[in-house]
Amino acid sequence: SRDMIVLGLETSCDETAAAIVRRRADGTGELLANQILSQMDHAAYGGVVPELAARAHVTHLDALITAALSEAKLDFTDLDGIAATAGPGLIGGVLVGLMTAKGLAFAHGLPLIGVNHLEGHALTARLTDEAPFPYLLLLVSGGHCQLLIVEGVGRYERLGATIDDAVGEAFDKTAKMMGLGYPGGPAVEKAAASGNADRFALPRPLTGREGCDFSFSGLKTAVRKALLDLEEVGPQDKADLAASFQKAVGDILARQTGKALEMAGARLGPAPRLVVAGGVAANRYLRTRLEALCQERGAQLIVPPPKLCTDNGAMIAWAGAERLALGLSDPLDLAARARWPL
Ligand code: KG4
Ligand code: ZN
Repeated sequence: SRDMIVLGLETSCDETAAAIVRRRADGTGELLANQILSQMDHAAYGGVVPELAARAHVTHLDALITAALSEAKLDFTDLDGIAATAGPGLIGGVLVGLMTAKGLAFAHGLPLIGVNHLEGHALTARLTDEAPFPYLLLLVSGGHCQLLIVEGVGRYERLGATIDDAVGEAFDKTAKMMGLGYPGGPAVEKAAASGNADRFALPRPLTGREGCDFSFSGLKTAVRKALLDLEEVGPQDKADLAASFQKAVGDILARQTGKALEMAGARLGPAPRLVVAGGVAANRYLRTRLEALCQERGAQLIVPPPKLCTDNGAMIAWAGAERLALGLSDPLDLAARARWPL
C-alpha cells in the first residue's frame, strides 16, 4: 500500500463540494483542499428544491474542482483517483457529480470510485482523528438516523434506525413551524441557547421499547401542539420550545446510543469508541450529552469538526481513498442511486 491522493465530489443535496485528501500508507489522513458552496437560495422555499439544486451543481462544480486543485497546488497528474457520491440523494444532483467524475476519470486515465454518501459520513472520523475499527457509529443527518457497528470499510452492521423522521429533519421541521428559517438545525440550536428547556413537557417516543430504533414524528407533533396552545408566540416562547425540543432529542439520542453500546458489548473491544457523524453532530448541546454518556460508560467520543460533519467533499474524497487503498474502484458505467442503504 502507498499514499493515495483523491479528489472527491459531493452533489447529493444542496452543497456543491470538491475536496482533495491524502491517505498515507499508514492509514492517517491529510486534508489538502476543501471547497464548498452552500446553495442558500433554497431558504426562500423552506427546503431544497431538487431541480434548482441540480442546476446549481452544474453551474458551480467545475470552478470548485479548479479551486480545489489550486488550493492543494496539485494537477490531475498528481491524483490517484476521482471519487464522487453515487447515492443516496437527490438523483439529479447525484448524476451531476458522478458524470463529472466519470468524465475526469476517463480523460485522465484515473480510477473512478463511486461512494455511498453515508459511508462518507461513517469514515470521516478516520480522516480527522485516530479512529481504528471497530467503532459504534451514530449517524445523524437530514435524511438519516442510525446506529451502526463499523467493522471496516464496507462492513457495517445496523443496530437501530429511525422508524419515521430523521433527526435533522425533525430539527428542520421544528424550525419551520416556529418560523426560525432554514436550515433548521443551527437556527434551533441558536434559539435554544437562551431558552428554558424544562418549560414544555415533550414526549420521548419509544421509551421502554426494546432495541435502539428511533422515532421523532411524535415529538414534532407535540411541538406543533405546543405552538397551537400558545395564544401568541413571542421570542422567549420560541427559545423555550427550541430548548425543550433539543433536550428531548438529547435524551432520545443518549438513551438509544447507550443501549447500542450495551448491545455491541465486547464487539467494540476493551476501549469502546463512539463516533458521531452527519450534520446534526455539529450541535454542541447534543455533543455535550453524548460526551456525558461516554464518560459514564468508559467510552471514547470522537466527533469530527463541524465543517466536516455537515455535507462536504472531504468525506467523499476520504471514503474514496479508503476504498482505493483496498484496491476497490468502479467501472465507468456505474449507476447513480437515489436510494442506497449502507
Ligand atoms: O449531513 P447533512 O449536512 O446532510 C444530509 O446528508 O442530510 O445534515 C444536514 C442536517 C440538516 O437537517 C440540518 O438541520 C442538521 O443537519 N444540522 C443540525 C445542526 N447543523 C446542521 N442539527 C442540529 N444542530 C445543528 N447545529
Ligand atoms: Zn449528509
